Amino acid sequence: MKNHLTLVDHPLVQHKLTIMRDKDTSTNSFRRLLREISQLLAYEITRELPMTTRQIETPMGPMDAPTIGTKKLALISILRAGNGLLDGVLELIPAARVGFVGLYRDEETLKPVQYYYKVPSELSSRLVIALDPMLATGNSSVAAIDLLKESGAKNIRFMCLLAAPEGVARMKEAHPDVPIVTAAVDEKLNEKGYIVPGLGDAGDRMFGTK
Ligand code: URA
Repeated sequence: MKNHLTLVDHPLVQHKLTIMRDKDTSTNSFRRLLREISQLLAYEITRELPMTTRQIETPMGPMDAPTIGTKKLALISILRAGNGLLDGVLELIPAARVGFVGLYRDEETLKPVQYYYKVPSELSSRLVIALDPMLATGNSSVAAIDLLKESGAKNIRFMCLLAAPEGVARMKEAHPDVPIVTAAVDEKLNEKGYIVPGLGDAGDRMFGTK
């Protein structure tokens, strides 16, 4: 992808995002909308996948038909909120391998602490799409991408639903080679590292925890 930041301002995405932001939206609706938006973001993040052709026979005759040139794709869910994006994307790209990075945010320091890491083999030859709905301080996203690069990943893209300007700047500084695709860049972070106006805690809202 050419740009470091791609804002998906499609009306369907923006309309669904507004419903998700509303504090009165139920867990059930929040999860369904996140799944739907994840597929629209996936459409955008895969727009420039390398293509090739293969010979097929239509009922009318032979055709050199376009097909995606890379079979090597890895989706990496940054736990736990990344799972809210994972299912929808996996439905669109069912052959993708899947990995998980478990990081929680220390509420005092706002720094990420790793508790789980399991990713597919041969990351160096895969297009890796990291999934995390909220790019807030950027601390956990940067740490997750650090880990993926340590595992050999060279071609990484980052999908999120909402970003704060601070998180985008932090990612650009640490990982300028990792394009970000998001539905919105909000105003700012508050003193607790939450995105404002945002939508609250994405994990709590999608899983109904508090
Ligand atoms: N994580 C969330 O779930 N929400 C925020 O606003 C920031 C980080």
